[in-house]
Parts: sequence; C-alpha cells; structure tokens
Amino acid sequence: MALDQRKGVWKTAPGKGRGTPKGRQLDDTALAEVRALLEGRPLSRDMLIEHLHLIQDTYGHLSAAHLRALAEEMRLSMAEVYEVATFYAHFDVVKEGERPPPALTIRVCDSLSCELAGSQQLQAALEQGLDPAEVRVLRAPCMGRCDSAPVLELGHHHILNATEAKTHAAIAAGHTHPDMPDYQGLAAYEAEGGYQTLAALRADGNWEEVQDRVLSSGLRGLGGAGFPSGKKWGFVRAADGPRYLAVNGDEGEPGTFKDRVHLEREPHVFLEGMLIAAWAVEAERVFIYMRDEYPAIIALLRREISALEVAGHVSAGYIDLRRGAGAYICGEESAMIESIEGKRGIPRHRPPYVAQVGVFGRPTLVHNVETLYWVCKVCREGPEILSSVEKNGRRGLRSFSVSGRVRSPGMYQLPAGSTITDLIAAAGGMAAGHSFKAYQPGGPSSGLLPASKADIPLDFDVLQEEDTFIGSAAVVVLSDQDSARDAALNMLRFFEDESCGQCTPCRVGCEKAVKLMSAPSWDQPLLEELCTAMADASICGLGQAAPNPIRLTMRHFPEEIE
Ligand SMILES: Cc1cc2nc3c(=O)[nH]c(=O)nc-3n(C[C@H](O)[C@H](O)[C@H](O)COP(=O)(O)O)c2cc1C
Ligand code: SF4
Ligand code: FES
Repeated sequence: MALDQRKGVWKTAPGKGRGTPKGRQLDDTALAEVRALLEGRPLSRDMLIEHLHLIQDTYGHLSAAHLRALAEEMRLSMAEVYEVATFYAHFDVVKEGERPPPALTIRVCDSLSCELAGSQQLQAALEQGLDPAEVRVLRAPCMGRCDSAPVLELGHHHILNATEAKTHAAIAAGHTHPDMPDYQGLAAYEAEGGYQTLAALRADGNWEEVQDRVLSSGLRGLGGAGFPSGKKWGFVRAADGPRYLAVNGDEGEPGTFKDRVHLEREPHVFLEGMLIAAWAVEAERVFIYMRDEYPAIIALLRREISALEVAGHVSAGYIDLRRGAGAYICGEESAMIESIEGKRGIPRHRPPYVAQVGVFGRPTLVHNVETLYWVCKVCREGPEILSSVEKNGRRGLRSFSVSGRVRSPGMYQLPAGSTITDLIAAAGGMAAGHSFKAYQPGGPSSGLLPASKADIPLDFDVLQEEDTFIGSAAVVVLSDQDSARDAALNMLRFFEDESCGQCTPCRVGCEKAVKLMSAPSWDQPLLEELCTAMADASICGLGQAAPNPIRLTMRHFPEEIE
C-alpha cells in the first residue's frame, strides 16, 4: 500500500484496521466547492461565521459535506465548526439523508409589537396558502422594524405592515433582496463639515479633553446599561495595547429600532463618532458587529467603509465589518466578542472585563451604535447638545423606539425626562379605538408597567424604584384590548428561545416559567421562587432580567393571572 493511502489508518491489532480515518470523510466535490468560495479570503478562526454565511448564501444551507470541507480548509475540528453552525438561527445545517430547506424562507416576526398586530394569524395564513416544498414559513424574533408591525422577511427582503397579499406579490415578483434606504453619503456629509473634527483631533487633539467633553455632556451607554461613556475610554487606555474598538450593532432587544433609524439616515455621523472613539483609545482595528436582520445596513456600511478607505480617512482593512447570524445573546458584549472571534455567542464570566480582556484577549472598548452617533455630535457641536436639554429634573436626549397601540409608531428623539404620556403624545396619541392600559418601558427585559405609572421620567436610574429600567428605550404601548398576561408570556417565550443555555437557572428557568405562565392561573409562589433563582444565579443580563415581566405582571395585573 502506498504510504499516503495508509495515512490515518486506525489499527487496533496486527492485521486489523480501517481504510479511512475516524469520523466523516472528506468529500472531494464539497472540498473543491468550499475552496472556490474561500479563494483569497483569510482562513483565520475568527472568520468562521463569515465563511459559514458564504456557504449558506450560496447553497441555501450548510451540508455536512461542506462543513467537513470547511473544517479541513480552516484547520478546525468538525466539532468546532458544527457547534458554531448549529448555535445561530440563520444557519441551516443539513446532515446526510436530511432534506435541505426549500429555496425560499419566510421569517414572520413573533415578538410583542408584531404579535399585537396579528403576526400569529398572518403566519398561519401563509403556512396554509403556500407550498411547503417551495417556501418554508418560520417564526423569528424582533427584526427591528416594530414601527411597521407586522413584519416578515422574505429571503432578505423585509415586508413592512405585512399582509398575505403583499407577501404573495413579492414572491411572484421575486423580490427577495433588501431595499437600500435613501441615506446621507460621504460627499454630502463632508460638504457639511463631516470628518473635519476627526482630522483636527488626529492632528493635535488631546484624548483626555475629548473624554472630559463626552463626560460633561452626560452621555451614557445607549445599548442599555447606561454606563457613563467617556469613563470607559480611560479603563481601556489604562491597559497596554494593542487595543480594539468593537461596535455593538446587534440591536436585538425586541421593540428597539433606534440604531437602524440612525444608520439608515446618517451613517457617517456614527462612523465619525466611531473613528473618534477609536482614536481616543488608540485602537489598532475596529470591528463593527451588525445584526443579520439589517442586510441593507450591512450593504450600505460596506459601501461607505470603502468610500472612507478611498478618501484616505482610514487605511484598507482598518474597519472590519462582521455579520451576526440571528442570536439575540450576541448583543451582550462578551458574547458579541466571542462571536467576532468566530465562536458561539456565549457570555463570558467577569472579571476580567472586556475593557481589559476583550477581542483576541486584548483591551477592547465596546460601544453601542447610537452612543457613537452622540460621541460625534458632542465633539462636533459641543456637550451642550445633550447637557442643555432638561425636563422633569433629567438631562439629555433619548431616541425612543415607540410601537404598539399608538397612532404613529416610530423613533422619537425627546428629552430623557419624558414620560410615557409625552411619548404617546409624540406618537400621535393612542391608535383609534384603543385606550392606554400598560407599557413596556425598555424591552422585554424591563417587563410591563400599568397606565397608572404614567408620570415617571423614562430615564436611567429613575425606574429602579419600580423594579424596572429604561434599557434601550424600546417602548411598547398596550391598550384595553390587550392582555398583560399574554404580553408577559410573549416576553418569556423570547427569552426561552434566545437563552444561550450556558447556565441552568436561565436555560431551565425560562422554559419552566413559560410552562407555568401558560397555565390558566399562575402558581405565583413557585414562579416567585423561580424568579429569585434566575435573577440571583444567572451568569448574564438575559437570565437576570427575564424575571421582570413575570414579577411586574404579578404585581400590577393580578386580576389577569389568578
Ligand atoms: C442580554 C443582553 C443583550 C444586549 N443587547 C445589546 C444590543 O443588542 N445592543 C447593544 O448595544 N447593547 C446590548 N447589550 C448591552 C451590551 O452588553 C453593552 O453594555 C453595550 O454594548 C455597551 O455599549 P454602550 O456603553 O455604548 O451602551 C445587551 C446586554 C445584555 C445583557
Ligand atoms: S443567563 Fe442565559 S443567556 Fe446568559 S449566560 Fe446564562 S444561559 Fe446564557
Ligand atoms: S419587528 Fe416585530 S416586534 Fe420588532
């Protein structure tokens, strides 16, 4: 036998043996196909998710043969490739003997605002009216377009205020690609002074002065945690380089769509803010992690990053745009970093914090998209743009995503001290025929408050007294026609689906909570016990905050659950 044919032979005893190595065998055709797709691309481990996207986009699924070939090309074990591919909702792994999904996929949003707008009925009607051999219909979490509920995604085309008729028409027209928004491009932004602040800072700026400016504006992290923005820069600078900046564009908290609106309108305000922060912490490279549910934004950012490279604002490859793959937990900063490194999005234990040990183990500044948008505004227009706005004793501005039972859902930029009454007024009042009953102040993690709590400023720190928080300011308004109990169940179903499964209190707790909340009357003592275990013992914010909708529903809407 030739030497190369004996490679990997598994010998258990003299004379016995297998002619092939253990595990799945390499398929020559699949290997050639994967090689062709990856030609000229880096094969480093962190590119795994990008490469999985390439295969999924080309073949409509990830066959076992392609995964095996990818493992071979990237010098990874099959187990590593498989565990990553199966973690993310937007990858379809198809093993030998299994049937690949049909060419077209419809994802119907089942999060709260879309459920209120009839997404369940829409999904059922679509399932009945379409041939499953040609189109599959799946449920999916919030797509960041709650102002146009119900929403579905056909291929990569989002149908807003979706109906059966609109969907059938789009299928017939083959409209499965994203529509590009009409946004401000580089030339228009530069014409109004864009990138001059960045150039001046790079020439002879003092990063500590900029940090003070940001601190004095009162800007706080708009991803939800509300940490004073400038403060983080000092933490990251205190650690030795190389350092990185990672932008959180995951925007997965149901009801939130403010980052999308800012990016669809003025992407360069965000990009300049990002480059100012990168300059301040001397970042060697910038990663933008953008959710896969925003394909048009991914395309426009690719275009505008190239434009920045051509114009000489950044060197080629300095900004590395990474595409998420449908996992809410990747919005949690350490899970996002795992995902940027090409792994499953599983939150890390802290300490160490990402400011010290972040991407590739290096100090990393993580900021939400909107936070960086405001960094730019503060640097260009002065800290007063935020600090001079005062209402109800609170300072600053907030981009509220408002949806649910209001006349004109949308993103409203209002003083941070605004109340739900102000928000409903800004959104044109309640929808016709609906009267105000309850609201979600900041995503499902914040639970529900009753209409009687309508005079609380919706700002950081204030809502703690009510055992809730403003988070990413994802406000959903419920009316007399809605059930708080159903809304809370919707929220827990979301957490059950999106728990990464790493820790038992969250993985089992969410599942158990959904079961208990589905019963005609809630076993409140048992639910309270469960809530305590989840809040106290979960590793990250998902499991810690998941009890909020349960507890607040028990407190404010007892008549619905007894
Ligand atoms: C479960 C969970 C999900 C999160 N999702 C997001 C998200 O989608 N976008 C975001 O910017 N921050 C999200 N965060 C907050 C981030 O962990 C982090 O605090 C933020 O990106 C820091 O940026 P900032 O200081 O500019 O807000 C999430 C946190 C948790 C616990
Ligand atoms: S709390 Fe939930 S999402 Fe967070 S690490 Fe634990 S299992 Fe994962
Ligand atoms: S897009 Fe459906 S709830 Fe956000």
